[in-house]
Amino acid sequence: MACKRGALIVLEGVDKAGKTTQCKRLVDALLAGGRPAEIMRFPDRTTTIGKMISAYLERKSDLEDHAVHLLFSANRWELVPLMKEKLEQGITLVVDRYAFSGVAFTSAKPGFCLDWCMKPDVGLPKPDLVMFLQLSPADAALRGQFGDERYETKVFQKAVQQKFEHLMMDRSVNWQVIDASQNIEDVHNNITTHSLNAINVAQNRPLGELWK
Ligand code: TYD
Repeated sequence: MACKRGALIVLEGVDKAGKTTQCKRLVDALLAGGRPAEIMRFPDRTTTIGKMISAYLERKSDLEDHAVHLLFSANRWELVPLMKEKLEQGITLVVDRYAFSGVAFTSAKPGFCLDWCMKPDVGLPKPDLVMFLQLSPADAALRGQFGDERYETKVFQKAVQQKFEHLMMDRSVNWQVIDASQNIEDVHNNITTHSLNAINVAQNRPLGELWK
Protein backbone atom coordinates (compact mmCIF):
# COMPACT_ATOMS: atom_id res chain seq x y z
CA MET A 1 0.00 0.00 0.00
CA ALA A 2 1.36 3.39 -0.98
CA CYS A 3 2.23 5.54 2.03
CA LYS A 4 2.00 9.30 2.17
CA ARG A 5 5.12 11.02 0.94
CA GLY A 6 7.49 12.92 3.16
CA ALA A 7 8.06 16.65 2.77
CA LEU A 8 11.15 18.29 1.31
CA ILE A 9 12.12 21.04 3.71
CA VAL A 10 15.10 23.33 3.09
CA LEU A 11 16.90 25.71 5.41
CA GLU A 12 18.86 28.54 3.85
CA GLY A 13 20.53 31.59 5.31
CA VAL A 14 23.71 33.56 5.59
CA ASP A 15 26.72 32.36 7.58
CA LYS A 16 26.25 32.13 11.36
CA ALA A 17 22.46 32.07 11.09
CA GLY A 18 22.33 28.68 12.81
CA LYS A 19 21.11 26.52 9.92
CA THR A 20 22.99 23.37 10.88
CA THR A 21 21.91 23.49 14.55
CA GLN A 22 18.31 24.12 13.55
CA CYS A 23 18.28 21.32 10.96
CA LYS A 24 19.38 18.86 13.66
CA ARG A 25 16.87 20.20 16.18
CA LEU A 26 14.07 19.94 13.66
CA VAL A 27 14.87 16.33 12.72
CA ASP A 28 15.07 15.39 16.42
CA ALA A 29 11.70 17.02 17.10
CA LEU A 30 10.04 15.33 14.14
CA LEU A 31 11.40 11.93 15.16
CA ALA A 32 10.29 12.49 18.75
CA GLY A 33 6.79 13.19 17.43
CA GLY A 34 6.78 9.91 15.52
CA ARG A 35 7.40 11.43 12.08
CA PRO A 36 10.15 9.79 10.01
CA ALA A 37 12.76 12.42 9.12
CA GLU A 38 16.37 12.61 7.98
CA ILE A 39 18.91 15.35 7.59
CA MET A 40 20.79 16.05 4.36
CA ARG A 41 23.23 18.79 3.48
CA PHE A 42 24.61 20.37 0.35
CA PRO A 43 27.33 20.28 -0.62
CA ASP A 44 27.46 16.60 0.27
CA ARG A 45 31.23 16.38 0.62
CA THR A 46 31.29 12.56 0.79
CA THR A 47 30.80 11.82 -2.94
CA THR A 48 33.50 12.08 -5.64
CA ILE A 49 32.01 15.36 -6.84
CA GLY A 50 31.61 16.52 -3.23
CA LYS A 51 35.29 15.90 -2.56
CA MET A 52 36.23 18.15 -5.50
CA ILE A 53 33.96 20.85 -4.09
CA SER A 54 35.39 20.44 -0.62
CA ALA A 55 38.98 20.80 -1.86
CA TYR A 56 37.94 23.95 -3.71
CA LEU A 57 36.24 25.45 -0.63
CA GLU A 58 39.27 24.64 1.52
CA ARG A 59 41.46 26.37 -1.10
CA LYS A 60 43.36 23.15 -1.78
CA SER A 61 42.42 23.39 -5.45
CA ASP A 62 41.35 26.08 -7.89
CA LEU A 63 38.42 25.63 -10.21
CA GLU A 64 36.95 27.93 -12.84
CA ASP A 65 33.83 29.68 -11.45
CA HIS A 66 31.37 28.28 -14.02
CA ALA A 67 32.82 24.80 -13.57
CA VAL A 68 32.46 24.86 -9.80
CA HIS A 69 28.88 26.12 -10.10
CA LEU A 70 28.07 23.12 -12.28
CA LEU A 71 29.76 20.79 -9.78
CA PHE A 72 27.59 22.11 -6.93
CA SER A 73 24.54 21.46 -9.11
CA ALA A 74 25.76 18.01 -10.15
CA ASN A 75 26.25 17.21 -6.46
CA ARG A 76 22.52 17.82 -5.96
CA TRP A 77 21.46 15.89 -9.06
CA GLU A 78 23.51 12.85 -8.11
CA LEU A 79 21.47 12.59 -4.89
CA VAL A 80 18.05 13.05 -6.52
CA PRO A 81 17.28 9.31 -6.89
CA LEU A 82 18.02 8.79 -3.19
CA MET A 83 15.99 11.85 -2.19
CA LYS A 84 12.98 10.69 -4.21
CA GLU A 85 13.21 7.19 -2.77
CA LYS A 86 13.20 8.52 0.79
CA LEU A 87 10.37 10.97 0.17
CA GLU A 88 8.28 8.19 -1.38
CA GLN A 89 8.94 6.06 1.70
CA GLY A 90 7.29 8.80 3.75
CA ILE A 91 10.53 10.22 5.14
CA THR A 92 10.67 13.99 5.50
CA LEU A 93 14.02 15.39 4.37
CA VAL A 94 15.44 18.39 6.19
CA VAL A 95 18.07 19.86 3.91
CA ASP A 96 20.86 22.21 4.99
CA ARG A 97 21.33 24.43 1.87
CA TYR A 98 20.02 23.65 -1.62
CA ALA A 99 19.86 25.21 -5.08
CA PHE A 100 19.15 28.65 -3.58
CA SER A 101 22.62 28.72 -2.01
CA GLY A 102 23.95 27.56 -5.36
CA VAL A 103 22.42 30.51 -7.16
CA ALA A 104 23.02 33.11 -4.44
CA PHE A 105 26.72 32.30 -4.03
CA THR A 106 27.66 32.07 -7.70
CA SER A 107 25.59 35.05 -8.80
CA ALA A 108 27.35 37.13 -6.12
CA LYS A 109 30.53 36.70 -8.18
CA PRO A 110 31.25 39.25 -10.91
CA GLY A 111 29.95 38.42 -14.38
CA PHE A 112 27.16 36.01 -13.39
CA CYS A 113 23.43 36.58 -13.78
CA LEU A 114 20.71 34.90 -11.74
CA ASP A 115 19.18 33.37 -14.85
CA TRP A 116 22.33 31.49 -15.93
CA CYS A 117 22.93 30.33 -12.38
CA MET A 118 19.41 28.89 -12.02
CA LYS A 119 19.46 26.84 -15.25
CA PRO A 120 21.38 23.74 -14.10
CA ASP A 121 19.04 23.28 -11.11
CA VAL A 122 15.78 23.62 -13.07
CA GLY A 123 13.71 20.48 -12.49
CA LEU A 124 15.27 19.40 -9.19
CA PRO A 125 12.75 18.16 -6.61
CA LYS A 126 10.94 21.28 -5.49
CA PRO A 127 11.02 21.95 -1.76
CA ASP A 128 7.62 22.07 -0.07
CA LEU A 129 9.04 24.73 2.24
CA VAL A 130 12.17 26.89 2.20
CA MET A 131 12.97 28.72 5.41
CA PHE A 132 15.41 31.59 5.20
CA LEU A 133 17.14 32.25 8.51
CA GLN A 134 17.50 35.99 8.50
CA LEU A 135 20.32 37.56 10.51
CA SER A 136 21.72 41.07 10.19
CA PRO A 137 25.47 41.43 9.53
CA ALA A 138 25.78 43.09 12.98
CA ASP A 139 24.14 40.11 14.75
CA ALA A 140 26.20 37.67 12.67
CA ALA A 141 29.39 39.47 13.76
CA LEU A 142 28.40 39.00 17.42
CA ARG A 143 28.42 35.23 16.82
CA GLY A 144 32.16 35.18 16.13
CA GLN A 145 34.63 35.30 13.29
CA PHE A 146 34.09 33.86 9.86
CA GLY A 147 36.00 30.65 9.05
CA ASP A 148 38.84 30.32 6.55
CA GLU A 149 36.95 28.73 3.68
CA ARG A 150 36.30 30.45 0.42
CA TYR A 151 33.31 32.88 0.51
CA GLU A 152 33.67 33.47 4.26
CA THR A 153 34.15 37.22 4.14
CA LYS A 154 31.88 40.05 5.18
CA VAL A 155 31.77 41.70 1.76
CA PHE A 156 30.94 38.50 -0.10
CA GLN A 157 28.31 37.44 2.46
CA LYS A 158 26.57 40.78 2.01
CA ALA A 159 26.41 40.27 -1.74
CA VAL A 160 25.05 36.76 -1.17
CA GLN A 161 22.35 38.12 1.16
CA GLN A 162 21.19 40.49 -1.59
CA LYS A 163 20.94 37.63 -4.07
CA PHE A 164 18.87 35.61 -1.59
CA GLU A 165 16.53 38.60 -1.24
CA HIS A 166 16.06 38.57 -4.99
CA LEU A 167 15.34 34.84 -5.03
CA MET A 168 12.80 35.24 -2.23
CA MET A 169 10.63 37.42 -4.47
CA ASP A 170 9.79 34.30 -6.48
CA ARG A 171 6.26 33.37 -5.41
CA SER A 172 6.45 29.93 -7.04
CA VAL A 173 8.55 28.83 -4.05
CA ASN A 174 7.09 28.55 -0.53
CA TRP A 175 9.53 30.89 1.25
CA GLN A 176 9.24 31.65 4.96
CA VAL A 177 11.58 34.16 6.53
CA ILE A 178 12.63 33.23 10.07
CA ASP A 179 14.09 35.78 12.47
CA ALA A 180 17.32 34.01 13.43
CA SER A 181 18.29 36.67 15.99
CA GLN A 182 15.86 35.14 18.53
CA ASN A 183 17.14 32.50 20.96
CA ILE A 184 17.66 28.95 19.70
CA GLU A 185 14.45 27.65 21.31
CA ASP A 186 12.22 30.33 19.79
CA VAL A 187 13.76 29.88 16.34
CA HIS A 188 13.28 26.13 16.70
CA ASN A 189 9.61 26.48 17.66
CA ASN A 190 8.98 28.79 14.75
CA ILE A 191 10.68 26.39 12.32
CA THR A 192 8.79 23.39 13.71
CA THR A 193 5.42 25.09 13.28
CA HIS A 194 6.10 25.87 9.61
CA SER A 195 7.47 22.37 9.04
CA LEU A 196 4.47 20.52 10.52
CA ASN A 197 2.22 22.59 8.35
CA ALA A 198 4.30 21.79 5.22
CA ILE A 199 4.36 18.07 6.08
CA ASN A 200 0.55 18.03 6.28
CA VAL A 201 0.12 19.83 2.98
CA ALA A 202 2.80 17.80 1.16
CA GLN A 203 1.28 14.41 1.93
CA ASN A 204 -1.66 15.11 -0.37
CA ARG A 205 0.34 16.68 -3.17
CA PRO A 206 2.80 15.31 -5.72
CA LEU A 207 6.40 16.44 -5.45
CA GLY A 208 6.97 19.47 -7.69
CA GLU A 209 9.82 20.44 -10.02
CA LEU A 210 11.90 23.46 -9.08
CA TRP A 211 11.76 26.58 -11.29
CA LYS A 212 9.70 24.84 -14.02
P1 TYD B 1 28.54 24.37 3.93
O1 TYD B 1 29.28 23.08 3.81
O2 TYD B 1 27.09 24.33 4.24
O3 TYD B 1 29.34 25.24 4.97
P2 TYD B 1 28.83 26.18 6.13
O4 TYD B 1 28.92 25.36 7.35
O5 TYD B 1 29.82 27.29 6.07
O6 TYD B 1 27.45 26.62 5.84
O7 TYD B 1 28.69 25.21 2.59
C1 TYD B 1 29.93 25.44 2.05
C2 TYD B 1 29.97 26.67 1.21
O8 TYD B 1 29.53 26.39 -0.12
C3 TYD B 1 29.17 27.84 1.71
O9 TYD B 1 30.00 28.98 1.70
C4 TYD B 1 28.08 28.01 0.66
C5 TYD B 1 28.69 27.44 -0.57
N1 TYD B 1 27.76 26.87 -1.56
C6 TYD B 1 27.84 27.27 -2.90
O10 TYD B 1 28.65 28.13 -3.25
N2 TYD B 1 27.02 26.68 -3.81
C7 TYD B 1 26.12 25.72 -3.47
O11 TYD B 1 25.40 25.18 -4.34
C8 TYD B 1 26.04 25.33 -2.08
C9 TYD B 1 25.07 24.26 -1.67
C10 TYD B 1 26.87 25.93 -1.16
